[in-house]
Amino acid sequence: MKKNTVTLTNNKTGKTYEYDILDATRGPSVVDIRTFFQDTGMFTYDPGYTSTACCESKITFIDGAKGELRYRGVTIEDMAQNHTYLESCFLLLNKRLPSAQELSDFDLEIRHRAFLHEGLRHLFNAFPDNAHPMATLSAAVTALASFYDDHLELESEEEYQEMARRIISKIPTIAAFAYRHSLGIPFIQPDIDLGFTKNFLTMMRAYPGGKMHLHANGHEVIKDIEVRALDTIFTLHADHEQNASTTVVRGVASTGAHPYVAIASGISALWGRAHGGANESVIAQLEMIGSVDNVEAFIEKAKDPDDDFRLMGFGHRVYKNFDPRAKILKKLQDELRDELGLDTELMAIARKIEEIALSDEYFISRNLYPNIDFYTGIILTALQIPKPMFTPIFVIGRTVGWITQWIEFKKDETLKIARPRQLYTGE
Ligand code: ACO
Repeated sequence: MKKNTVTLTNNKTGKTYEYDILDATRGPSVVDIRTFFQDTGMFTYDPGYTSTACCESKITFIDGAKGELRYRGVTIEDMAQNHTYLESCFLLLNKRLPSAQELSDFDLEIRHRAFLHEGLRHLFNAFPDNAHPMATLSAAVTALASFYDDHLELESEEEYQEMARRIISKIPTIAAFAYRHSLGIPFIQPDIDLGFTKNFLTMMRAYPGGKMHLHANGHEVIKDIEVRALDTIFTLHADHEQNASTTVVRGVASTGAHPYVAIASGISALWGRAHGGANESVIAQLEMIGSVDNVEAFIEKAKDPDDDFRLMGFGHRVYKNFDPRAKILKKLQDELRDELGLDTELMAIARKIEEIALSDEYFISRNLYPNIDFYTGIILTALQIPKPMFTPIFVIGRTVGWITQWIEFKKDETLKIARPRQLYTGE
């Protein structure tokens, strides 16, 4: 018997089968069952893919037990503390961090590509007032595909990279336009004098032609700490290996569809509350709790087995000790509170929930810790970003991850169309 294999016995027939174990550089090995159906005439059954690796990847690694997340081998702590979001984009796409000159060229190109074709502007008018920006964003990215037919036949590495840089640049403009359309106010064009994150905040907040900003209580400027906070949120969302929306992007890639259509499908998948939509739910829940005095009653509801109420922003399928992204954001939230002189009732409610939950036996024994969404909602609220824009902000950060995974998929010649099987139990 070969050593690096597993042997499977069918107890009905007594037949045995041997499958190779493929070792990972980090994390669990996999059993290679590609010939399983051919060998046994049976399918494997794994709804929700909890035990199934759907691809080989060299992009992002997560160790849920240790609370570890790495982009191309670099820890998320290093990326969040010492690098910008654009450096994360360069790293994910190019497998290494940029030199100063490379970063400067990358930054300049991202600024120049941020403009949308004038024809695309009219699409926004087709949406009703108060349309959720996620609906507009997904539709506009699908429409964008029709402006770049040549992306269907990419050949050289440079063509792949240019396609990726183009979508990374344009997504913030589309998201800001979708938001401004939902308010019925004129669009603000990108400003090539501004860096990626400040430009997005300006397109969201500024009045056309002036320096005054919406919802700014008289503040005319965007503070550096606000830019740093949002840039960190983008960095922390840049990729998260084979999550639900990335799996959708790879699935669409497997049919040979346009890369931006695959991204639009990822946007739709992210919208759900169990995925990127959770950040909106955290703030809605804090608002519902309403006061620090009500926190204990809601904690009791969350612990009650007969009540389906759950504390939003707690727990994670993969991270069981802590979410490393949440740790970084908690620190940032405290800095924001001090620098902006903000200490809102929502922040106080969140602090009280965190304090009780982290010392309560129910939460400790079930490994329930605050996840990234617990803090993003609070930080984005402090940045005066309205709730419907929370998930579009997740989209802006995740676009680089989706497109990097799309490219990896396209270049892996062993991959086939995504076509799972089923256990038929009907008539
Ligand atoms: N509040 C109260 N109890 C909880 C919570 C919560 N937020 N999350 C899990 N539990 C309890 C469950 O009731 C269950 O208890 P039991 O063993 O007594 O029945 C136990 O903890 C295990 O829960 P599961 O649902 O099996 O855990 P799973 O890993 O499948 O779910 C999930 C993870 C979906 C994130 C869950 O913790 C949850 O619903 N959290 C709230 C929603 C949320 O914050 N989602 C964002 C996730 S992060 C992201 O997507 C970017």
